[in-house]
Amino acid sequence: MRRVVCPGSFDPVTNGHIDIISRASTLFDEVIVAVGVNQSKARLFTADERLSMLAEVCDGYDNVRIDSFDGLLTDFCRDRGARAIVKGLRAVSDFDYELQMAQMNSSLAAVETVFVPTSPEYSFLASSLVKEVATFGGDVSRLVPPLVLKRLTERLSGRGGAGRPGETG
Ligand code: PNS
Repeated sequence: MRRVVCPGSFDPVTNGHIDIISRASTLFDEVIVAVGVNQSKARLFTADERLSMLAEVCDGYDNVRIDSFDGLLTDFCRDRGARAIVKGLRAVSDFDYELQMAQMNSSLAAVETVFVPTSPEYSFLASSLVKEVATFGGDVSRLVPPLVLKRLTERLSGRGGAGRPGETG
């Protein structure tokens, strides 16, 4: 079985992430979407909230499952029996850092990184920008799934539970 890990912070998941997850699901037998839950980083959404939004928006993909990890990504890949990591590349500017991480990861474990070019309509899209635009009342409805838009709106208006409005993470 060809199993791949698609890692990220997903704070929150965007249509750009879904584009990569969906295309990875056609290339591999199983895709594990892995939410990094590094406690030291400030996030708008808790790990549980990020996992639950991903679970809902990936519900239609039979070979995609959602998981979380803390610590090294390569340890997680080893534990789950995954020999590959999939990453989206939005622009050349992503490449330097992504290449460095891919080389570090393959030096730590027998894990290859596969880069998938982001679809052009999402090449500018990042969770941090979505949060910033939404914080100032901009329209992000074309950039995130409806469920995420609802949670973002609630969180930023202070109606959405334990979050921290204004933090961009
Ligand atoms: O969505 P992001 O914030 O770009 O995701 C970054 C993530 C979680 C994929 C990256 O920070 C990561 O892999 N963290 C795990 C820690 C680790 O393995 N570090 C060494 C990478 S070379």
